This record gives sequence, C-alpha cells and structure tokens, in this order.
Amino acid sequence: MANELLVIFLVVSYLFVSGITSRNFTIENKCDYTVWPAASNGPGGISLSTTGFMLRKGEARVINAPFSWTGRFWGRTFCSTNSTGSFSCATGDCGTGKADCGGAGVSLLPATLAEFSLDISGKDYYDVSVVDGYNLPILVVPQGDKTCSSTGCVVDMNVTCPFELRVTANTSMIACMNACQKLKLPEYCCTGNYSTPDKCKPSLYSQNFKSVCPRAYSYTYDDASSTFSCASNKSNYAITFCPSTILNTTK
Ligand SMILES: *[C@@H]1O[C@H](CO)[C@@H](O)[C@H](O)[C@H]1NC(C)=O
Ligand SMILES: *[C@@H]1O[C@H](CO)[C@@H](O)[C@H](O)[C@H]1NC(C)=O
Ligand SMILES: *[C@@H]1O[C@H](CO)[C@@H](O)[C@H](O)[C@H]1NC(C)=O
Ligand SMILES: *[C@@H]1O[C@H](CO)[C@@H](O)[C@H](O)[C@H]1NC(C)=O
Ligand SMILES: *[C@@H]1O[C@H](CO)[C@@H](O)[C@H](O)[C@H]1NC(C)=O
Ligand SMILES: *[C@@H]1O[C@H](CO)[C@@H](O)[C@H](O)[C@H]1NC(C)=O
Repeated sequence: MANELLVIFLVVSYLFVSGITSRNFTIENKCDYTVWPAASNGPGGISLSTTGFMLRKGEARVINAPFSWTGRFWGRTFCSTNSTGSFSCATGDCGTGKADCGGAGVSLLPATLAEFSLDISGKDYYDVSVVDGYNLPILVVPQGDKTCSSTGCVVDMNVTCPFELRVTANTSMIACMNACQKLKLPEYCCTGNYSTPDKCKPSLYSQNFKSVCPRAYSYTYDDASSTFSCASNKSNYAITFCPSTILNTTK
C-alpha cells in the first residue's frame, strides 16, 4: 500500500514538474469571415472545456485538452440564430441548436476534419481528412517538436470541386462533397464488394483532391500517406482555418 502511494506520488510529481498533464490546441481563424469551431470526443474520450464557439476573422483561442485526448475538430460556417433562438450553420452544423456541440459530431456534412489520437503507446497520431467532404481550408502544425510534420488541406473549391459535388447556398459555393456522400456507390464509399484496401482504390474524385492536398485523407484507405505521428510528450497543436502558408510538402 505504502509503495503504491509512493509510486502514485512520484508519477504525479513527475507530471507536475515536467508540466505535461495536458495539451493546448491553439485554434486560429485567418478566414475573411467568422468560423464557429467545434470539437467532438472520440470513443472513451474526455470532454474539453468547450465543444463549440465563435471565432471572428483574425481571432485565436487556446483549448486545453487532456494529455491523452482523442477526438476531432472542424469548423462551421454561415451560422445564425433564428427568431426562436435556435442556432444553426450552413456547413458543419452539429444539430444541437446551440453554439456548443455538447459532444455531438457533425450532423451536416460536408466538413473538413482535423483528427487526433493523442498519446497512443507514446505517440500522437493526427490527420486532416476530406473523406467527409470539404468546407474549410485547415492546417495542423505540431508545436514544440520541429521534426513533426504539418498537415492540412487548402483548396480553392472553384478550381478543385467538380460541379456535381458542389454544395451551394444563395448561388455561391459553400462546400464540396466527397464522391461517396453524393454518389453513394460502394466503389467510392469502400463498402460491399469494395470494403477492403485491395478492392477500394482511389477514385478520380479522391485523386483530384489528393493532387492538391497530398497530405490529406482523401478516401477510406488513404491512411498510409495521410496519418502523421509525433512523440506524445512534446506537442501542442495549432489548428488554422484559411492559413496563408502553403504547406511545404518536402518536410
Ligand atoms: C497552455 O496555455 C496556457 C496559457 O494559455 C499555459 O499556461 C499552459 O502552460 C499551456 N499548457 C501546455 C501544456 O502547453
Ligand atoms: C428555428 O430553428 C428550429 C430548429 O431548426 C426550428 O425548429 C424552428 O422552427 C425555427 N424557428 C423559426 C421561426 O423558423
Ligand atoms: C469562387 O469564385 C467566385 C468568383 O470568382 C468567388 O466570388 C468565390 O468566393 C469563390 N468561392 C470559393 C469557395 O473559392
Ligand atoms: C442566404 O441568404 C439569406 C438571405 O439573405 C441569409 O439569411 C442566409 O444567411 C444566406 N445563407 C448563406 C449560407 O449565405
Ligand atoms: C458483388 O460481386 C458479386 C460478384 O461479382 C455480384 O454478384 C454482386 O451483385 C456484388 N454485390 C454488390 C452489392 O454489388
Ligand atoms: C519523450 O519521449 C522520448 C521518446 O519518444 C523520450 O526519449 C524522452 O525521454 C521523453 N521525455 C520525457 C520528458 O518524457
């Protein structure tokens, strides 16, 4: 018993001394418009202090997460509150009727996702995914360890999104669907006869995105080139919407 307490004491002291009991996600909006970032926890995850909030053009906010957090961030656009007080967004809505998503995931796809599985056997895993479509440019930059790769997807939808996948509102394009979302065919969704990596190959649609965003998750079995890892004891992460930096793909 005394030994167990000693071990607990040592572990807790160690964590305090090295200051690594949690992580910071710095979320910054460099878009020309307001974005409402949102977050959902993965299975067995622990809640963050906020799961949805407003970020005006040029603003940044630090979200503190548990050291071993698993979950995803995304951005919501064209949000408003209607006359009876219900909040909703034209893209990325989480369906709660409030700015806070309260643990709910995206109920209105498409949405670009930034996904994190922190501290899995000593490593953090992260990716930026367009498997659920694309509504905002996102850049993820690990902070603290310079050997860890940045990832993201910054696309001009006017150029990259084929007409049949466009989501429009008031005649302007607000998001781009993934081929699976729109066409619902097993070869795009990697289901049925196409449910294994050897059967489900990149489609012309996913390759179209992949050519512009080589580091992004473009379809179900794209993990080899789009999941990144980083030593878990070092990193905080910056997530930027509409980054001005172009990703240096050689690093
Ligand atoms: C997170 O940021 C706060 C200030 O915003 C700082 O006090 C804290 O040490 C940071 N935590 C980590 C894990 O970097
Ligand atoms: C506001 O939005 C809620 C949720 O979508 C809906 O049920 C309600 O009818 C809306 N109110 C008005 C006045 O449109
Ligand atoms: C697409 O192009 C139009 C006209 O140039 C521009 O107004 C609009 O902002 C562009 N939309 C996106 C999503 O890039
Ligand atoms: C579309 O236009 C209406 C009326 O001007 C506006 O209330 C709504 O927010 C617009 N939607 C988007 C997604 O821009
Ligand atoms: C799967 O492939 C088999 C053999 O080619 C075919 O008979 C079957 O209809 C396919 N199933 C679906 C859901 O496409
Ligand atoms: C951090 O992890 C590396 C290996 O991933 C290890 O060599 C180092 O000792 C660790 N540092 C701390 C403070 O835990």
